[in-house]
Amino acid sequence: MFKKTMIRNDKFIFRVIFPVLFFSVLFITLIQNLKPVGKFNEDILNKVSRDDNINVLNFTNFGYKIIEYQISYKNIKNVDIKSIIFKNNTNTENNNFKNNTNTENNNFKNNTNTENNNFKNNTNIENDNFKNNTNTEIKNSNIKKNVLYVSRHEGTISNFSTIGSLLNVHTTVIQPKYGFNQRPNCFEKDRCRSFVEMMCNKYEFIIISDIIPDSYIFFINPCKAKVILEITNRFDIFVNSQVKDDYLHRIGSAILGNRNLVVVENNPFETYYACTHGVFIPKYYLIRPLGYAPYYLLNEEHKEVHDEIAFIDHSKHDKNITLPNLERIGIKFTKLPHRYGGPLVLSTYKAILMLPYQVSIMKMMENFRYGVAVILPSERLFRELLNDNLYVFSQKELKDVKDGISKYVEFYNSEFKHLFVYFDKWEDLPNIVETTNFDDIKENVKTFMKEYEKKALNLWAQVLDVIPSENITIDKEPLCKNQRFYNYLGVNN
Ligand SMILES: *[C@@H]1O[C@H](CO)[C@@H](O)[C@H](O)[C@H]1NC(C)=O
Ligand SMILES: *[C@@H]1O[C@H](CO)[C@@H](O)[C@H](O)[C@H]1NC(C)=O
Ligand SMILES: *[C@@H]1O[C@H](CO)[C@@H](O)[C@H](O)[C@H]1NC(C)=O
Ligand SMILES: *[C@@H]1O[C@H](CO)[C@@H](O)[C@H](O)[C@H]1NC(C)=O
Ligand SMILES: *[C@@H]1O[C@H](CO)[C@@H](O)[C@H](O)[C@H]1NC(C)=O
Ligand SMILES: *[C@@H]1O[C@H](CO)[C@@H](O)[C@H](O)[C@H]1NC(C)=O
Ligand SMILES: *[C@@H]1O[C@H](CO)[C@@H](O)[C@H](O)[C@H]1NC(C)=O
Ligand SMILES: *[C@@H]1O[C@H](CO)[C@@H](O)[C@H](O)[C@H]1NC(C)=O
Ligand SMILES: *[C@@H]1O[C@H](CO)[C@@H](O)[C@H](O)[C@H]1NC(C)=O
Repeated sequence: MFKKTMIRNDKFIFRVIFPVLFFSVLFITLIQNLKPVGKFNEDILNKVSRDDNINVLNFTNFGYKIIEYQISYKNIKNVDIKSIIFKNNTNTENNNFKNNTNTENNNFKNNTNTENNNFKNNTNIENDNFKNNTNTEIKNSNIKKNVLYVSRHEGTISNFSTIGSLLNVHTTVIQPKYGFNQRPNCFEKDRCRSFVEMMCNKYEFIIISDIIPDSYIFFINPCKAKVILEITNRFDIFVNSQVKDDYLHRIGSAILGNRNLVVVENNPFETYYACTHGVFIPKYYLIRPLGYAPYYLLNEEHKEVHDEIAFIDHSKHDKNITLPNLERIGIKFTKLPHRYGGPLVLSTYKAILMLPYQVSIMKMMENFRYGVAVILPSERLFRELLNDNLYVFSQKELKDVKDGISKYVEFYNSEFKHLFVYFDKWEDLPNIVETTNFDDIKENVKTFMKEYEKKALNLWAQVLDVIPSENITIDKEPLCKNQRFYNYLGVNN
């Protein structure tokens, strides 16, 4: 009898008490990690925003700062946005607007978000604007949308502010002030449910850019606004390893199941990277930056003309590879400092020699806009350079992926290849510099950018439901081979 009880007690300890203790410790550990560490700096006073209800929604209390943005492009209003986003639609049937591509979601199972009424009615709302659309005289004044833009990165903020202004959407920008790997001040209490509810009632669109994990609270809580993830910088950046699994699982389900969540990437590597980290992104827009330089870099005129190439002393390999090679072949060149003064300075040189250090840089589009000619190593030479330990490139593994370089490194993408000058051997450079008509190239890149701007604005108009979605990219299968996906069941190897 006594013995039996002992055994029962032992079992009880092992089956109940230990697990309870274990999970309690685990739970407490998790809670500790989810909690924002450190105090929010109360001194950061919100600037007066264009938002009338700022006092009701004091973002400071939630760990955000309101940013008043400055549109850097003086002549921005000269862009004829109507002709860019609205086609001459003489077709009264309005087929364009009836077929909502988002309804063909059969591929993507288990829509966990049931509150999609908002979404369903979108196209009908738009149709009223377009019914009488028989010429270019389209009034888009009534297309005034409220957008909340969440970002910590000045470049993305000013880029989107420009886009928002062009598309006539009312943009409120907030910048998280909590740590990069932390969560907002509301997180402790109710995981921000009420904050998210308030934001999602107030704004039709919530765009999270730069640090995508800042979007976490918007997809773990109910939100009737359209949530847009603008990925520029790896979607899981700064996520602590302790919460990574949860993060990937949640964002994976949201991307697949939540029809009110839209992914925009500013370079093609982002969806591939997500795939290699177990998250399949089946639908997304690829929209590159518009490339406007900050206004303070455009004030000064640069009329000087340099009859030589230049390179920017940016990465370790510029010192260790570019410089010694240029000296060795005896070509005339200028070494520019890391802060070289903006694209107008670069455009005064014959061309800028660049050894790519990232799959994509926003400066690439900026250089196109202001007429900078760029010389790059050929893909063959680039692959060779990647083997060099002195060469800095965070995605060296792409050279072993089929078409990895041409698909995911923008400098080798077929969309841009005709805009660059490539060299295959250092010894070829003097001849290339001598014989290439760089003035033509400078004109070509500017023209290209004018066209690209139309495209990008048109795509943003689609993202913001100003016009119907037409150019969303759909991948039926993940872009990579992966053993384990958080949100994809298909066999993939
Ligand atoms: C917002 O809240 C902070 C701290 O609670 C306060 O210091 C600040 O004055 C408030 N700002 C506005 C605009 O009400
Ligand atoms: C739109 O239609 C008008 C009148 O038919 C025409 O003059 C104009 O060139 C068209 N614009 C475009 C961009 O096709
Ligand atoms: C819309 O769908 C109908 C029938 O499903 C099809 O005939 C038509 O071509 C589609 N229109 C567009 C613009 O895709
Ligand atoms: C989808 O839902 C069904 C039934 O509710 C379930 O059997 C299936 O496992 C779910 N699939 C995913 C990917 O969650
Ligand atoms: C969508 O339309 C239906 C029927 O027209 C309506 O009952 C519903 O309230 C609408 N939803 C929203 C969010 O406007
Ligand atoms: C479209 O035209 C019809 C008849 O011409 C008119 O009754 C209607 O109000 C117009 N709609 C809009 C949105 O302008
Ligand atoms: C867009 O981003 C780039 C890169 O960060 C930045 O240099 C540029 O100023 C931004 N555009 C605008 C309009 O400010
Ligand atoms: C590479 O450059 C750094 C300075 O940026 C220098 O300290 C280092 O010695 C160089 N390495 C080689 C192998 O040249
Ligand atoms: C969208 O797709 C249509 C049809 O494929 C194409 O004609 C158009 O140029 C695309 N627009 C953009 C902005 O990519």
